[in-house]
Amino acid sequence: MSIQPSVSPAELAAEALSAITAAENLEALDSLRVDYLGKNGKVTTLLKSLGAIPADQRKEAGQVINTAKIQVEEAIANRHAALQAAALERQLQTEALDMTLPVRPEAKGTLHPVPQVIEEITQIFGQLGFHVAEGPDIEDDFHNFEALNFPQGHPAREMHDTFYLVGGQVLRTHTSPVQIRAMKNSPLPLRCIAPGNTYRCDSDQTHTPMFHQVEGLVIDKNITMGHLKGTIIHFLQAFFGVDDLPVRFRPSFFPFTEPSAEVDIGCSREGGKISIGAGKDWLEIMGCGMVHPNVLKNCGIDPNEWNGFAFGMGVERLAMLKYGIPDLRTFFDSDLRWLGHYGFTPLGGE
Ligand code: PHE
Repeated sequence: MSIQPSVSPAELAAEALSAITAAENLEALDSLRVDYLGKNGKVTTLLKSLGAIPADQRKEAGQVINTAKIQVEEAIANRHAALQAAALERQLQTEALDMTLPVRPEAKGTLHPVPQVIEEITQIFGQLGFHVAEGPDIEDDFHNFEALNFPQGHPAREMHDTFYLVGGQVLRTHTSPVQIRAMKNSPLPLRCIAPGNTYRCDSDQTHTPMFHQVEGLVIDKNITMGHLKGTIIHFLQAFFGVDDLPVRFRPSFFPFTEPSAEVDIGCSREGGKISIGAGKDWLEIMGCGMVHPNVLKNCGIDPNEWNGFAFGMGVERLAMLKYGIPDLRTFFDSDLRWLGHYGFTPLGGE
């Protein structure tokens, strides 16, 4: 006895196609798929009925059912793609962000003085043709000390209160290791600054274990102390916005520069309040010097052909002086009232 299907495969396909076209969403479409192509679906049942068809008619009947099955599958796939595209389109419409809208005036977020000051420094040196270089916070002894002409056991190493990591690496105690990386990796001549985090095992009113420095490095031919002084004086006058800011260079020592100097700017402390500019007093603001020939050699640079200068400054200190922030430790308190007071609007204004 053979079970005769009540509808022909072509009729079934036509019925399915119109239902599929009418499916309004992915759930409705999926339940149609189950209805027709699922384990007990109408098309599947037709296929199962093939066994009951006389052998000589089976091939032809099978082809007809298969054609219907393929039509239904294709219709479902097409409808699926169309519904998905429509859903995405709806989502894009409803979730659209107008990037040109101005920031809401009530927005409370501010830029911390550290990134703000790094940006100001970068702008000034950018105009002088310096690019920004980077290096890792976790350094090896070679980059943080050895290549910078700190021999093993040299007392200058101890001045750095280094955080040593298991395995001998260190948290960089200054941004000077970026000098080494820049000299080894960039073509000469070279003009770069390197802002970044630095770490020393030191914590009191004027020291925090993590702070920020900006390093500067120029390598070229026939560079003199005059270039160094001109660059730094221009920078300090531009940064503090004081055209006649007095700047003084005092002999000093760093293993990686020779000669070395510490830079002071003029200020007055009258009435217990520091104001930057001409006055009776001086404030130490940064270190600098001519790159030591040993450092050039350690980077594979011939000191008879090339020379240069380097400088380094503390970002928090510059920020405190420029913006009158009295206490270093407050920089790291994440106090929203402090950020509201000393922070900057993110879009440029002060
Ligand atoms: N690395 C020095 C410090 O941390 C600063 C410095 C940089 C001095 C470059 C000279 C040249 O104190």
